[in-house]
Amino acid sequence: MKKNILVIGGTGKTGRRVVDILKSEGHNVKIGGRNTDPKFDWEDFSTFAPALEGIDRAYIVYYPDLAIPGAKEAIKALSEAAFAQKLEKVVLLSGKGEVEAQACEQIVAESGVNYTLVRASWFNQNFSESVFLEPIQSGHVALPMPEARIPYVDADDLAAVVSKVLLDDSWNGETLEITGPRKLTFGELIDEVSNATGRKIMYHPISMDEFAEGMKSAGLPDTYIWLFRYLFEEVLSVDENQYISNDIEKVLGKKAIDFREFAQKVAETGIWDAPLTEPI
Ligand SMILES: NC(=O)c1ccc[n+]([C@@H]2O[C@H](COP(=O)([O-])OP(=O)(O)OC[C@H]3O[C@@H](n4cnc5c(N)ncnc54)[C@H](OP(=O)(O)O)[C@@H]3O)[C@@H](O)[C@H]2O)c1
Repeated sequence: MKKNILVIGGTGKTGRRVVDILKSEGHNVKIGGRNTDPKFDWEDFSTFAPALEGIDRAYIVYYPDLAIPGAKEAIKALSEAAFAQKLEKVVLLSGKGEVEAQACEQIVAESGVNYTLVRASWFNQNFSESVFLEPIQSGHVALPMPEARIPYVDADDLAAVVSKVLLDDSWNGETLEITGPRKLTFGELIDEVSNATGRKIMYHPISMDEFAEGMKSAGLPDTYIWLFRYLFEEVLSVDENQYISNDIEKVLGKKAIDFREFAQKVAETGIWDAPLTEPI
């Protein structure tokens, strides 16, 4: 049966893909964002109820992250609106290993609305559609925590999982951990990008303070600097947070996309190219 679905964050890395999948299946999909009609703005709780009107199911992507101060209040207000409007089900995107995000997960779990929680590892697409794209294009990527090993997940896999469990009630009440098939350090990841592009891209390990200073000079707001510090110092630094899960295989019945496959695909598009670096 075709559903009326709201995708909050439907213009972002995961939401955009979920919108495409659900539309291709014939569902009536609405995007909830700051430029949609009706508007959905996490900073204005009065926009929640109008955006949920007539909606059966919703994918919830909080921005910038469920760990930030203020997220709990927003998730509570949205959960109450979803319950009041008798939504059949919601799927909440959360961060794997983020203890701070679990209070928000709990609020959704106790809202009275059917739900599935999807905890994702870092996305491959952070390096092609987000903050780390520009450093790759420049040929120099400076990041702290060279020892951290992360099982990067592909946003295509994540979106396929979200689209499936949003419509399949057999996953109700479950918490899924979504990771890629292999752990990579930043150095190993950048080597994969170099191999895929044929350009020498350098990884420079720096301290957390140097990284924070760089974000400050680039004019990033304090919340983002706090968030990156939290993600590096409290999530990535704990190796137990970085285990590889097989939940993608469990839900989709296929192997998770490896970073190498992602890198080859992105390299073919040319977006990682820049004229200034020498060939390997
Ligand atoms: N990146 C990762 O590695 C990673 C890993 C695990 C979990 N996550 C989670 O993923 C989420 C971010 O998702 P994403 O990476 O797909 O997003 P994204 O690509 O960064 O895009 C941000 C999305 O959030 C929307 N947005 C921004 N401010 C908003 C506001 N005030 N009200 C309503 N919508 C707003 C934007 O929509 P408009 O601009 O159209 O309003 C856009 O759709 C976060 O909750 C994060 O914790 C990320």
